[in-house]
Amino acid sequence: MKTFYGTEADIDRAATLLREGGLVAFPTETVYGLGGNALLADAAERIYLAKGRPGDNPLIVHLAQAADADRYCITNALFERLAEAFMPGPFTVILPKRDCIPSSVTGGLDTVAVRVPSHPLAHQLIARAGLPVAAPSANLSGRPSPTCADHVREDLDGRIDMILDGGTCEIGVESTIVRIDGPDTLTLCRPGAVTYEQLCTVCGEVRIDRAVTEKLADGERPAAPGMQYRHYAPASPVTLIGGEHARAAAYIADRLSAQVGVLCYDEDVGRFSEAGLVRSLGARDDAASHAHALFDALRAFDAHPGIKEIYSFLPDMQGMSLAVFNRLLKAAGFQVILLK
Ligand code: TXA
Ligand code: MG
Repeated sequence: MKTFYGTEADIDRAATLLREGGLVAFPTETVYGLGGNALLADAAERIYLAKGRPGDNPLIVHLAQAADADRYCITNALFERLAEAFMPGPFTVILPKRDCIPSSVTGGLDTVAVRVPSHPLAHQLIARAGLPVAAPSANLSGRPSPTCADHVREDLDGRIDMILDGGTCEIGVESTIVRIDGPDTLTLCRPGAVTYEQLCTVCGEVRIDRAVTEKLADGERPAAPGMQYRHYAPASPVTLIGGEHARAAAYIADRLSAQVGVLCYDEDVGRFSEAGLVRSLGARDDAASHAHALFDALRAFDAHPGIKEIYSFLPDMQGMSLAVFNRLLKAAGFQVILLK
């Protein structure tokens, strides 16, 4: 698969491909997306096939501007307020869909998720295609989302038509997803760089879907279908160690060997030198850097031969850390040891 870098000619080529029903991977400020024409049922089918994604897991529809949302879904006053505050940006809203969006795009649901990315290449591509662009993260289903073009190539080389390489994604975890439940009420379905605290400044009541922080019971359904799938998981089991930081660090330090991987912070790297692979997420108090580094680190454990188990600290749940907490919890299959 040939890589393109976002010259005017590259964007034209990508936009034409989208209009003709092709699949183009492109950078956004969160993660890379795998784009197809959201008005063509066939393009959605090709996306599911390329990713190996279950057909009941709906796709996010990407728009050039929030003002376009009304063509594809039924908007309301709370949407307008949220759009004013957070769009363009790492933010997705679920609303009742209009008939022009095929049901294959929405996994059979009567709602559609809409997002307006702020990344200039994503914006130019969508605007030039003149279409709503359906785009899940550009990874094979079950793998961590791609935060650079190499990740996309690792997973999808030969399965898609083109990749636009815009370097590393700034944020590194997928967009915040909310569902509007009432005139001043919403549910946070997936945490991201638009935080729970920020949402509370715009909306009276913000409920956090249980799937964000807890393992659901058999048969229980998350607000966003994708939250139920095993996700982000490296091949080796991950265990999250919670509790006072020094105690958690000592717990991990006691269990090191060449077969153990450790995901930690800059301040701790030195004490884990006997591990097979140590990856830092950045300074301990820099949650944005943790989000930025997380998926590349999870992929690194998979690529490292001999790692049989992985330990990580359990992040807190404030601000941007809630997104990292949620992704790590899923990577760990909810395996947490809380030290007293
Ligand atoms: O940052 C992002 O959102 C990235 C970039 C490419 O924009 N996209 C992304 O898409 O993360 P994906 O497909 O990997 O995750 C979309 C999530 C899934 O959990 C899906 O179930 C949920 O959004 N979703 C989409 N449409 C929905 C709907 N109508 N109702 C409920 N959940 C929906
Ligand atoms: Mg995804």
